[in-house]
Amino acid sequence: MPQNIAPAWIPVALSTDLPVASVIPARLKTASLAIWRAQSGAVSAVADRCPHRGMRLSHGFVRGEALSCIYHGWRYGKSGNCLAIPAHPSLTPPEAIRVATYRAGERDGVIWVSAEEVAADMPSNEGFVGLRSITLSATAETLAACIGADLIEDAIDWAIDGMRARLLTAPSGEDGALLVHLLIDSSATKAQKIAASTALETLRRQAEAAANRGEAA
Ligand code: FES
Repeated sequence: MPQNIAPAWIPVALSTDLPVASVIPARLKTASLAIWRAQSGAVSAVADRCPHRGMRLSHGFVRGEALSCIYHGWRYGKSGNCLAIPAHPSLTPPEAIRVATYRAGERDGVIWVSAEEVAADMPSNEGFVGLRSITLSATAETLAACIGADLIEDAIDWAIDGMRARLLTAPSGEDGALLVHLLIDSSATKAQKIAASTALETLRRQAEAAANRGEAA
């Protein structure tokens, strides 16, 4: 089992960013993942490196219930096992050929992953819908300080012009980048969603400026 991400649920994407039969990359602090959704709708997470020649599996494609590598077409199932090798169609791939898997699931429009068995359920964000995700160069603490709100379990509740919003944060990459998902009250109008998206851009500039000044590290 991969050991290089924390044993907790980490928000890696919004459900709307992963349509049926697609794959996207997700960069965590010390791990690069490929997150994919099968035709059935099930979400899986694997290390973003094909065991064959190291190609990024997030560059691959999904057919049915399998993720295929774009390079030589090796096909992997949800449990990470190699299902087929196109160059050797009569070969049953050995069990040893497999890509590392992470626990993955979705709740209330957010896709979560974990490297280990997590006792708790994925966090609830009932009543919200995912609006957009961004990365920025500041810490979650700096972000919370700019809003004047508390950072609780990597989430920040935020009122944008009286509308309920929430930021979910996760360290992304090794360069101190922060992945931020903006959720907004499910009753928000189109105009309120546009305003919230604009507010997030403003917040990004404020947080990065504060980080550059060395405030709220
Ligand atoms: S590198 Fe993935 S199939 Fe060859």
